[in-house]
Amino acid sequence: MLEITDFRDFSISNWYDKFKHISMETIMIELPDELLKRIQADIILADDSEEESEPELQNQDSPEPLSAEFVQTFKNAMNRLNNSAFVKNNWHAPIDAKMFSFGNNLKVSNIEDVILYFTSSGVIQDDFSNIKGIPFCIALRKWISLHPAAEFRCIVINNVLRGITPRDWPTYYAHFKEEGPRIIEQLMSFYIENIKITFPRENYIFDVVFQYPDRPIVVDFGPLNSKTNLYAFSWKEIQPLMGKDVPEDLPPVFRYLETDIGIMMKADALNKFAKCHS
Ligand SMILES: Nc1ncnc2c1ncn2[C@@H]1O[C@H](COP(=O)(O)OP(=O)(O)O)[C@@H](O)[C@H]1O
Ligand SMILES: [Mg+2]
Repeated sequence: MLEITDFRDFSISNWYDKFKHISMETIMIELPDELLKRIQADIILADDSEEESEPELQNQDSPEPLSAEFVQTFKNAMNRLNNSAFVKNNWHAPIDAKMFSFGNNLKVSNIEDVILYFTSSGVIQDDFSNIKGIPFCIALRKWISLHPAAEFRCIVINNVLRGITPRDWPTYYAHFKEEGPRIIEQLMSFYIENIKITFPRENYIFDVVFQYPDRPIVVDFGPLNSKTNLYAFSWKEIQPLMGKDVPEDLPPVFRYLETDIGIMMKADALNKFAKCHS
């Protein structure tokens, strides 16, 4: 069960300031009540409409107008980001609403896009219904074009970087074999120089993407628990490491798919073909 401290520490509104020099530019705007209501009304409406043949459309027809001040703040933020942004709430992106976006990429250029993604995302809805005590925000992040092979999740246990996994998993990338040692080295020093002492937790994950010319930047932080998607790793193998101290300079394991598993059953093949390098 996540605690309020988890929600606080992993909220972008909490970590961004400390890491903005190594992250993409982000502008956070507090989610106004009328917008939260509108998103939640749409949720209720959507639930209703499954059961009743005549859903109440009143909310949708006459939503409480957004304040001029908020609309202006939003526009200014979008201008600063060249009118092309990636949107999240404090914790999550509306990834599960991707199919509603033009080009399937969740790019945002106006407030209507944000409303559409937030109302059609179960992940965002869950956060807004379950999390209490932390002001919700719209985080607009400068849109960057990134290659899926350049995205990694890093697993930190007892303040030591223990594991690195591609986020695009299980996809075979031939260059990982040759570049593995360099990826390990770069992420290890990136972690030690920029994150280790600054992030206020001992066990967590952080996501990075390598940006031209080969500099890692932080995409996100998240809790490390049984619900965490560990991609190439499993919770079963990570959990026992949590109580154990290891030398600080122990290199992390970079686990990636060694063989192109093609159309084989990916789930079956994961264990067979995943290779560890450290
Ligand atoms: N600023 C951005 N521009 C373009 N794509 C992004 C940006 N930030 C994240 N993404 C893409 O969206 C994915 C999910 O983003 P992330 O912030 O990790 O969301 P979540 O925490 O919900 O998983 C990333 O893996 C990346 O591919
Ligand atoms: Mg995340």
